[in-house]
Amino acid sequence: MNGTGALSLFNIFKKPKESRSHAMFAEYLQYGYEDGIYQTFLGPYTQLKVVDPDAIKKIVLDTTTFPKHPIMINQNPSSLLAKFIGKNIVFTEGHDWKAQRHVVNPAFYNVEIFYPLFLNLTNKLMDRWASIVNKNNGSTSIAVMPEMTNFTIDALGSAVFGIDFDAINGNLSHIVESYDFLLEAIQQVQRMIFPFLNTLPTQYNRQMEHHLKHYDDMIYKLIDEARNRKEDPEKAKTLLDMMIESEGVFDNKILRDNCSVFFVAGHETTASALGFAFYTIAKDQRVQDKIVEEIEQVIGMKENPTYEQINAMEYLSCVIKEYMRLYPSVAAIPMKMAAKDTELCGYFVPKGTMITMDTYSLHHSEKVYGPTVEEFRPERWQGEEAKSIHKFAYIPFSAGQRVCVGNNFSLLEQKIFLVRLLQRFSISLEKGYKLSFNKEHNAVNHPEKSFAVVVTPR
Ligand code: HEM
Repeated sequence: MNGTGALSLFNIFKKPKESRSHAMFAEYLQYGYEDGIYQTFLGPYTQLKVVDPDAIKKIVLDTTTFPKHPIMINQNPSSLLAKFIGKNIVFTEGHDWKAQRHVVNPAFYNVEIFYPLFLNLTNKLMDRWASIVNKNNGSTSIAVMPEMTNFTIDALGSAVFGIDFDAINGNLSHIVESYDFLLEAIQQVQRMIFPFLNTLPTQYNRQMEHHLKHYDDMIYKLIDEARNRKEDPEKAKTLLDMMIESEGVFDNKILRDNCSVFFVAGHETTASALGFAFYTIAKDQRVQDKIVEEIEQVIGMKENPTYEQINAMEYLSCVIKEYMRLYPSVAAIPMKMAAKDTELCGYFVPKGTMITMDTYSLHHSEKVYGPTVEEFRPERWQGEEAKSIHKFAYIPFSAGQRVCVGNNFSLLEQKIFLVRLLQRFSISLEKGYKLSFNKEHNAVNHPEKSFAVVVTPR
């Protein structure tokens, strides 16, 4: 098997010059293109990167042979992962995972319950943008990533915790500051591999402790408020209510850890997807016109859409599928491990090997998607062409048993947002804008914070 062949221990301390996705894609083209698998190193660990749809199918469908890597499950108590995110549905296996997933599944099977929340929130944001546009007498530039982060935090706040954070009007900024700090710190690979780095008496670590306390206080306050809230039969239960009712499964610490993971898993990813939606739709007038045409046919340009109408927007679904292919929010599916000797792509894989599925390279592989791989072409998800795409060649939400539990939640949120946005505004890129990804976070891709689009009322 080809591979990088060198222990890249020092590389993990270097500040990256490019995004994680671009670095992995270059590596894939050099070492893994032929076989769809190659060997690399993550600090002291030998790691296989997998970009072959058949191998991915084998991995995600057999969680006994390919469980999550112990580095994620057996958290070192001094690690930031343990302190910030903890032992929750994402970082458990076997019986514990099944019990937790069983509790949260019902909320996510019936995402229609979140529909009014998403619609109200989107309308609130569009009204705010309209008043900014009014003041500017025409078009205005919108800083996409901060706006989308606030929007998705509010969506999560109301749907999962039953609280209106009102982040879209600039509230909650102190919590977001703590959260941003921790999210950046947690993704530093060197801290993951050498947790003692978190315990050194440095100024950075003192700041980290301060933000951790701030963040913990917020989560425990949310839990307390939910416990003391009187039941309202008119209101749909929030995810937190459901978790509180399952006391046997969720003690207070597990409850806290799951709140934390829903906060992390649930908003940054959707904010990133919407960031790339802005980029692709603003760049491609043809696609924007086709979505608007579909809105006119299915809903009309003024009315609030119904849940059924949103689901009837077939072309919009293909657009979302396509930008999540070209720009997957989660660059790679976090580490799994071969629990016994096995085989992938015709190669022997010894027990204990670390395995990462490289989503970005898979979605950009010409071998998998053919010569139009780099084109933004929603039509590839229609008719016969869609049927010819390997089912495991598209994994923005992972797949199999451990597929993202919030995928339909996120898709509904994105659809409602895009429909209301394009009913009211046309969007375009600022002159000469060239897309670049964030380099500071390595788990979630998103356009750089400076990314802005011009919105003009229709
Ligand atoms: C564009 C949006 C999203 C993307 C791209 C995304 C992606 C993913 C991926 C790739 C995984 C697999 C992680 C792994 O195997 O370790 C995952 C798992 C998960 N996601 Fe998402 N996610 C999104 C939105 C959400 C939302 C909105 C929520 C909750 C409100 C959520 C909650 C979760 C949870 C709880 C898991 C763990 C599931 C399990 O292991 O049983 N995600 N997500």
